Amino acid sequence: MSPNATTAATAAAALAQIDEDPVFASRVEQLIRLSRDRHVNSFAKIEWPDTVPDDAWWLSPELLSVHGTEYADALPERQLKLLSKWECINAFSLNVEGERELIALLSARLYAPDLPDIEAYIHHFIDEENKHLWFFGEFCRRYGGKIYSSKKTGVADERFGHEMAFFLLFARIFIFEEIGGYYNVVAGGDERVAPFVRSIHQIHHADEARHITFGRAVLSQSKEIAFAASGAAEREAAVAHLQRFVQVSIEALYQPAMYRDSGIEGGVALRRRLLQHPARRAHHATALLKRPLKFMEGLGIRLQANPA
Ligand SMILES: [Fe+2]
Ligand SMILES: [Fe+2]
Repeated sequence: MSPNATTAATAAAALAQIDEDPVFASRVEQLIRLSRDRHVNSFAKIEWPDTVPDDAWWLSPELLSVHGTEYADALPERQLKLLSKWECINAFSLNVEGERELIALLSARLYAPDLPDIEAYIHHFIDEENKHLWFFGEFCRRYGGKIYSSKKTGVADERFGHEMAFFLLFARIFIFEEIGGYYNVVAGGDERVAPFVRSIHQIHHADEARHITFGRAVLSQSKEIAFAASGAAEREAAVAHLQRFVQVSIEALYQPAMYRDSGIEGGVALRRRLLQHPARRAHHATALLKRPLKFMEGLGIRLQANPA
C-alpha cells in the first residue's frame, strides 16, 4: 500500500469513528433527547389564517434586500411592506429548495458503510426538515400562490473523495441553516412582523438551533479527517466549492421575481446593483454571514461573504 493510500484508509476509518469521541457522542445524545422532548406536530399544530394582509410586515424592514440603500429610501412604506411579503416568500422558497435537497442527501447516507453511527440523530433531522419543508411549501402556495425557484445549480455535483464529500455536505447544510436562521431570529423576534408569519419563523428556529449545533459538532470532528485524506488540489477545490456555495446563497436572496411581484421595475438590474452596493456587502460580511464564516475560519477555511 502506498503512503497516500495508507493515509486515506486511516482517514476513512477515522471518519467512521467520530461517534466514538465522548464529547461528540454526548452532544448527539443530548440533541436526540431534545428532539424527542420538544417534538412538535406541525401538521396538526399550525392553524392557517385565510390571508396574511399585504399591508403588514412579513419580514423586518432591516431584513429587506434594499435596506441601507437609496433604493429603500425611494420606496413608500406601502411598497416596502409588499416587498417584505415577496422577500418572505423568497426566503421560504429557498428553505423549500434547500430542505428538499438536504433530506435527499441525508437519506442517501443512512446506514451507509464507512460513515459514523449518527443515524439516530439523522432520523430526527430528516423528520424535522420534512415538517419544515411541508409548512414552508404550504405557506408559499397559500399566501404567495407560488414557490420561487432560485435556479441554484452546479454547486453540489462535483466529485470529491468520500471523507471530503461528507464534510462538504455538512458544511453546505450548516451555511444554509445559518443564513435561514438569521432571518428566523430577526423576524421571529420582531413585533412589527405579522403574528402568524412571526410564529412560522419561531417554530422553524426552535428546530434549527439544534441542527446548527449538530452541524458545528460534525464539522469540527470531520474537517481534519477530510483534509488529511485529500491532496492539495482536492482541498483547494473543496474551499472553492464552499465559496461558490456562499456566493449562490447570497445571490439567491436577490431574486429578480420578488421585485417584479412587488411592482418594482428593472429587477435584474436592481439585483446587480444591490449585490455590488457597499451597504449590502457590509451587511453580508458583518451580520448575515458573520457567525458561519467565523466558525469556518476557526476550522481554517477562509470564505468571503461577497460575490467577486
Ligand atoms: Fe428547516
Ligand atoms: Fe434544519
